Amino acid sequence: MLKGNIDRLDAEKISDFLNDNNIKPLVYDVIDSTNLELKRRIQSGDTEYRLIAADKQTMGRGRLGRSFESPERTGIYMSLLLIPDDMDNVLLITSAAAVAVCRAIRKLTDAEPVIKWVNDIYLNGRKICGILAEGTPDKNGKLNIILGIGINVFGDHATFSGEVRDIAGSIYGLEDVEKINRNELVAAVADEFAAIYNNIGSRKFLDDYKRFSMVIGKSVRYCDNGIWYEAEAVDIDGNGGLIVESGGGIRTLSTGEITLRLI
Ligand code: BTN
Repeated sequence: MLKGNIDRLDAEKISDFLNDNNIKPLVYDVIDSTNLELKRRIQSGDTEYRLIAADKQTMGRGRLGRSFESPERTGIYMSLLLIPDDMDNVLLITSAAAVAVCRAIRKLTDAEPVIKWVNDIYLNGRKICGILAEGTPDKNGKLNIILGIGINVFGDHATFSGEVRDIAGSIYGLEDVEKINRNELVAAVADEFAAIYNNIGSRKFLDDYKRFSMVIGKSVRYCDNGIWYEAEAVDIDGNGGLIVESGGGIRTLSTGEITLRLI
């Protein structure tokens, strides 16, 4: 049961917590999807707000055409606008975001979230965060990237629907709503991401990606084009790809349409 008050997300409060003054936040109480809202703005030429967050989404979007349950105020739903100069490091963006989320949560709480390749964040065996990067051209045809991050901050997994209930979790239970300030968490994720993104070509963040990985050294099953394979996950390559070994052969899974399960 919910004990205490959960503050609303608030653009001014997020700004106060942000170190990076270039990030201007905009907050909605309710929106269909922060990724969709940013896409509409990019396409209409309005790139004033580099961070859009919402207390609730009615059409939260997930990977592989899935939806992302986004109940009111118990999570944070945020999208960052990125305008890359070149396409060299675009494939690294979701891995960088996964590291940024882990660093932010580790900084503000005692929790030690881990990364399930490629971009899901887990805590105590449950998924607490999903990341969805989408590309869209701006008015002049230049590719912009919308980096969407959804974190279940407070909650009871029993309140999620259907199959999500078996997988989803939260950082804290509903009795612990005083333990973290969501405005501070939004700012910390944005700042941690900006710190990595400003130097993304160095790939230094991949050290933490490996350190936080819950997959390396484990037996996995992965589905590629409808076929399931079994392998050992052995390493992460310089592009965030997962190196797997099976029957003496090595293969690198790239950040595409692959579904991965731990055995
Ligand atoms: C996944 O786990 O499949 C990715 C989920 C990404 C959810 C976030 S919430 C904020 C942003 N807006 C969306 O509609 N989706 C992303």
